[in-house]
Order: sequence, then C-alpha cells, then structure tokens
Amino acid sequence: MEKYLGKKNLAVFISGRGSNLKSLLKFTSKKNSSTKIILVISSNPNAIGLKYAKKYKIKNYGIKFSKKSSFENQSLKLLKKNKVDILCLAGFMKILSGSFIKKFAKPILNIHPSLLPKYKGLNTHERAIKNKDKFSGATIHLVTQKLDSGKIILQKRVKILKSDNVSSLRKKILKIEHEIYPKAIAKFITNL
Ligand code: GAR
Repeated sequence: MEKYLGKKNLAVFISGRGSNLKSLLKFTSKKNSSTKIILVISSNPNAIGLKYAKKYKIKNYGIKFSKKSSFENQSLKLLKKNKVDILCLAGFMKILSGSFIKKFAKPILNIHPSLLPKYKGLNTHERAIKNKDKFSGATIHLVTQKLDSGKIILQKRVKILKSDNVSSLRKKILKIEHEIYPKAIAKFITNL
C-alpha cells in the first residue's frame, strides 16, 4: 500500500497585487491538491493581495520591509511555527538575505517574468521589447543567494508580436504565470 504523506504546507510571500497568490489559492484549495497554503506574508502591510488570503481564511501578516532583518526574523519565526515545507515567492519584490535562505533551510521557489537566464532583476518586459526579442515568458526557479539564478523548474514562452507593447506583453505573460506556477509546484513536489 502506498504511504500517505499528507499535504505539503506552503507559505506565500507577496508585495502587491497578488494575482499569482490568487491563482495558487485556487489551485491548492482543490480537494486532491498535494499542497495547502497555510501562511501569507506581505512585505507591504497595505498590499491589495492580502485580501485573497483573507477570503480563503489563511493566516496573513503584513510586515514592513523597511528594516530587512526585522522582516526576516519575524517571518522566520512564523514559517517555523507554522511548519512550512516550501516557501513560494509570488510577486515578492524584495531580495531575501543569504542568512534567511540558510536559516529557513527548506526550498524557496520564485516566479520571474522572463525567460531566465535572460533579464534577471527588474523591467524584464521593457528589456525584451527594446531588444526586439521574438519571445519572452515566465520562469519558476529555486531561490539561491544569487539573484534569479537558481535551478529552473518550469518555463513557458510567449510570442512577442510587432504590435505588442510593454503593457500587452505584461498581460500575456501574467496569464501564463497563473498557469505555470501551480504546475511547477506540483512538478517540484513529485520530485522531492
Ligand atoms: C508578476 O509578474 C511576477 O512575475 C513579478 O511581479 C508580478 C507580480 O504580480 N515578479 C517579479 O518581477 C519578481 N522579480 P502579482 O502580484 O499580481 O502576482
């Protein structure tokens, strides 16, 4: 008989709108999901995205990032206390320290709006359009101490049309982000 391992506990860090959080909540709240979101932390206490955590009655906290060490210490306590197995960054616009990554000592996933290793950091759509790239996309990767450089778990590309601008490209990519982040988590879990 197969051993029942139970659901993995996920925490999600956000900073703003939270549309990826919304898609993850929708996916993980399915009955047969192998994961459940048990904690949401925003680096901005006024983030609109916190409303999704409230709607799904998930523990949520807004912790100011103005003092990084204080944000990280408070978050680490919450992650440990809630027995979080995997941390998912979803529109989390801050950089976690090496010490945080080491102390958490569990996998951290991130979604990035480009075809990594292209366009690490900010303004990815602007750069793809400016360079007249034919494709862009989104990447789910493991977080390491080097910005946007950890092992890639899943990537999907979209075509950049001549008629595209930054805003239309952002919209197209956000749509595939909502599709691939849940898939990447499922894939990651099966390989654990
Ligand atoms: C998403 O496009 C995500 O890929 C990006 O911010 C947006 C957040 O949207 N993340 C990064 O640029 C991280 N470097 P959301 O708050 O609606 O999920």
